[in-house]
Amino acid sequence: MTDLSGRVIIVTGAAGNLGGCMAKLLAARGARLVLSDINKDGVERRRDEIHGQGGDAVAHVTDVTKEEQVRDLANFAVKKMGGIDVLVNNAGLLGQEIQLADLDADLWDRTMNVNLRSVFLTSKFVIPHLIGRGGGAIINISSAASKAGYIMSNAYAASKGGVNVLTKYIATQYGKQNIRCNAVLPGIHLGEEAMARTAKESLRNLAEHCMLPRLGTPEDIAKAVAFLASDDAFYITAQLLQVDGGLLDHAPQMADARNNDGFYRSQLARSA
Ligand SMILES: NC(=O)c1ccc[n+]([C@@H]2O[C@H](COP(=O)([O-])OP(=O)(O)OC[C@H]3O[C@@H](n4cnc5c(N)ncnc54)[C@H](O)[C@@H]3O)[C@@H](O)[C@H]2O)c1
Repeated sequence: MTDLSGRVIIVTGAAGNLGGCMAKLLAARGARLVLSDINKDGVERRRDEIHGQGGDAVAHVTDVTKEEQVRDLANFAVKKMGGIDVLVNNAGLLGQEIQLADLDADLWDRTMNVNLRSVFLTSKFVIPHLIGRGGGAIINISSAASKAGYIMSNAYAASKGGVNVLTKYIATQYGKQNIRCNAVLPGIHLGEEAMARTAKESLRNLAEHCMLPRLGTPEDIAKAVAFLASDDAFYITAQLLQVDGGLLDHAPQMADARNNDGFYRSQLARSA
């Protein structure tokens, strides 16, 4: 198991589904956490949960689109924890179900601000502190949505495409100062509530298109983040790590062929 003992990690969007799960897992592996979210009650609840499991965490209410608040977050982390080792850019606005011609320009701007401007701002204010510690890691939570077209979520996918590019630029510019920067691209990782809300037919459809036997879970993402934050990933930088059960790496007609295609079935029967 990856050891993160004593490592100071900022997690943005810590009140949410993936942020909450990764906060608990990182704390369980010894990290000291600076939890940040725009949702005050949510982030303070997370902090209390970490304390309840015997971990070390502080909470900061931050709107990651606001430069002054992000500067304050970085200073708060240093003041409370003595420095910063890892930044996890997880806060995000999820995909909005609108096709491009109907997409409101304000929603486009808001999505870009929360998902992309935020990564620029947090990195801008945290990188000098990482350099001061002799190095560190930045992990950007992007999305598999940035890798292929879909019938909606234009602003979301474009913002995550920007995150992928920024990941490579940060890694390139600060690698010599011992800063690694990678992105994790989740597929479908719903929490229990979202799972219960989602139509069974949609879940079945998604599961059919994963290579592996089940849909993703928040823990799958938390474990990838823990690995990338640890010294085990020392020689890994500038990578876009898809943690999506193979969702986007097979021929798109595969699931339909498996279920409905008589030719495919007859080939399978012949080779059996
Ligand atoms: N859950 C998935 O299946 C999935 C798939 C692909 C990518 N992702 C990415 O993972 C990340 C987390 O997703 P999630 O499923 O936990 O979503 P979530 O909605 O549960 O959590 C997002 C968190 O970000 C916070 N946030 C929103 N705007 C903010 C702002 N301006 N300042 C600070 N915090 C703000 C919210 O309060 C919330 O706590 C996002 O970046 C998302 O795009 C998730």
